[in-house]
Amino acid sequence: MGAVLTPEKTDGRVLLRLANISDSQDMLAWRNDPVTRQFSFSTEEVSLKEHQSWFKKAIFDPNKVIYIAEKKSAKIGMVRLDKGEESAVISINLNPEFRGLGLSKSILFESIKEFRKTNLLPIIAEIKHENVVSLKLFESCGFTKISEEKSKVILRR
Ligand SMILES: CC(C)(COP(=O)(O)OP(=O)(O)OC[C@H]1O[C@@H](n2cnc3c(N)ncnc32)[C@H](O)[C@@H]1OP(=O)(O)O)[C@@H](O)C(=O)NCCC(=O)NCCS
Repeated sequence: MGAVLTPEKTDGRVLLRLANISDSQDMLAWRNDPVTRQFSFSTEEVSLKEHQSWFKKAIFDPNKVIYIAEKKSAKIGMVRLDKGEESAVISINLNPEFRGLGLSKSILFESIKEFRKTNLLPIIAEIKHENVVSLKLFESCGFTKISEEKSKVILRR
């Protein structure tokens, strides 16, 4: 896949590409960030060994799509979609250094746009009630609540 968000389209701001093996370390660091863990459903730190084995399979798994967003060659974050039979589950995790800068909406929006080029599955987001920033983000990208459970809100687009 070529660049999805070209510099021309985004004033040189953000580029989106598929993840490759060179992203393994960054993805592990973002995954083990304390805030990410706080808002994940599995809050344990992931070991290097566990991550490497998962990541090597994940990037070649036809049912997973992982986009990496970059800005001036700095990695801003990732969006992952896990395809199931009836829907795809989406998650987003930004590099902690680039959070709170208003970049998440375009990254999420463009990831969905790219995914939709080849997949028409409904997209589901599962978000902890207390993750207000993420709830706000997904709602601003057109997701609507379809149900609530004790630990999470489920949204669909
Ligand atoms: C969730 C996440 C992707 C959001 O990215 P971000 O860079 O922190 O958020 P942004 O700066 O783009 O802001 C997104 C929205 O939240 C709002 N927001 C940001 N910080 C906020 C805060 N502390 N309190 C309330 N709203 C806040 C912004 O104003 C913006 O809303 P708007 O578009 O209506 O103005 C990022 O925080 C992250 O990676 N978190 C850890 C992983 C995670 O929780 N992933 C989601 C699980 S699916």
